[in-house]
Amino acid sequence: MNDKKIKPESGASADAIEFHYGTGNDYFALWLGESMAYSCALWNSDDESQSLDDAQRAKIRYHCEQARAKDAQSVLDIGCGWGGVLQALVNDYGVTRAVGLTLSDSQLEWVNQLGSTKIEARLESWKDHDPDVQYDSIISIGAFEHFAKLGLSEKEKVKIYREFFTRCHGWLGARGWMSLQTVAYGNSLPKDFDQFIAKEIFPETDTPRLVEIAAGAEYLFEVVALRNDRDDYRRTLRAWFSRLKENRVQAVELKGEEEVQRFEQYLRLMAYMFEVGGLDLHRITLRKIDKPKVA
Ligand SMILES: C[S@@+](CC[C@H](N)C(=O)[O-])C[C@H]1O[C@@H](n2cnc3c(N)ncnc32)[C@H](O)[C@@H]1O
Repeated sequence: MNDKKIKPESGASADAIEFHYGTGNDYFALWLGESMAYSCALWNSDDESQSLDDAQRAKIRYHCEQARAKDAQSVLDIGCGWGGVLQALVNDYGVTRAVGLTLSDSQLEWVNQLGSTKIEARLESWKDHDPDVQYDSIISIGAFEHFAKLGLSEKEKVKIYREFFTRCHGWLGARGWMSLQTVAYGNSLPKDFDQFIAKEIFPETDTPRLVEIAAGAEYLFEVVALRNDRDDYRRTLRAWFSRLKENRVQAVELKGEEEVQRFEQYLRLMAYMFEVGGLDLHRITLRKIDKPKVA
């Protein structure tokens, strides 16, 4: 396995992650829905009445299936959030051991209280992960966005992404599968939008471009499927916004008016960005190339 170290400042630090996710489990539970999934759902475009919870379950199923996780011995979820994928893996897909990585204390606490002996959550960055045995599959949803921070050059970002894919390559067994979901810059990004997000919402974070992800994975993984579901993120953000509105009194009691307004502004702005194509939402199915050519 590759033991080259990445400088800790290359992506969002644990403090920066906690700045956002540490807003509080009770607060997020008010508007994320029952799965506590904090990433784009998978909507049925023919069903306007579909619920957020149903679309989140569909997203989780999609990734478990793309990662060919059924009856796997061990699966890694990088950026496991509040554990929705880990639970599905062990409860619905017969996985023997599901390992989740997060940088957030409050998420770790939440996953630990789920109480499953088949789930192992770790407060650990992918940069420090060093498993004893190989995984059959890897899933990573909505975490890749945090791996590079604002201000790095394209070359520096690709270097980090390449390191990430090199490590995933080493952790996976022969011809292993990986299902990755990430936001990426789209084709019409307004000036200074990235600064607003990095300053107000996700410190030390820069979004990837599709070309950077591809350069990071080249010769290590083949891309088996790629879909851009940006309208699904617009719909997810609108659904979160509506739930926050429904539970606004409780949200203000928990976090105060200013904080709730900050989230409302962020949810509205992000929905607009996905609507106009300033941001894309990629779901990428990758398969390990066992004998990679040296890049
Ligand atoms: C937007 S949340 C998504 C959570 C979950 N996958 C979901 O779909 O609900 C991002 C997750 O990535 C994690 N994360 C960010 N940077 C990370 C890193 N370097 N190593 C491991 N996890 C990381 C955060 O702690 C958080 O759990």
